[in-house]
Amino acid sequence: MNQTPSEAKPKPICPCSGTSVAQIKALIGEGIVNLDRISRITGACSGCGGCEAEILALLAEYNHSQIAEATAHP
Ligand code: FES
Repeated sequence: MNQTPSEAKPKPICPCSGTSVAQIKALIGEGIVNLDRISRITGACSGCGGCEAEILALLAEYNHSQIAEATAHP
């Protein structure tokens, strides 16, 4: 049976290692916010390196939200 697009498995952020965006976000949520550590844990960025910019963008998004939270006035 064919899958509809909504049922299809999401494309990994790192096809070389098969690492998904969800896996990266889960690690960031656990406080692992260093590209090197993420790479060692998942294998992302250890092949062609083509995913590095996208992972750095997720880390930047996290850092931006942390800064916004830290500077928010009650
Ligand atoms: S796409 Fe991540 S190392 Fe190749």
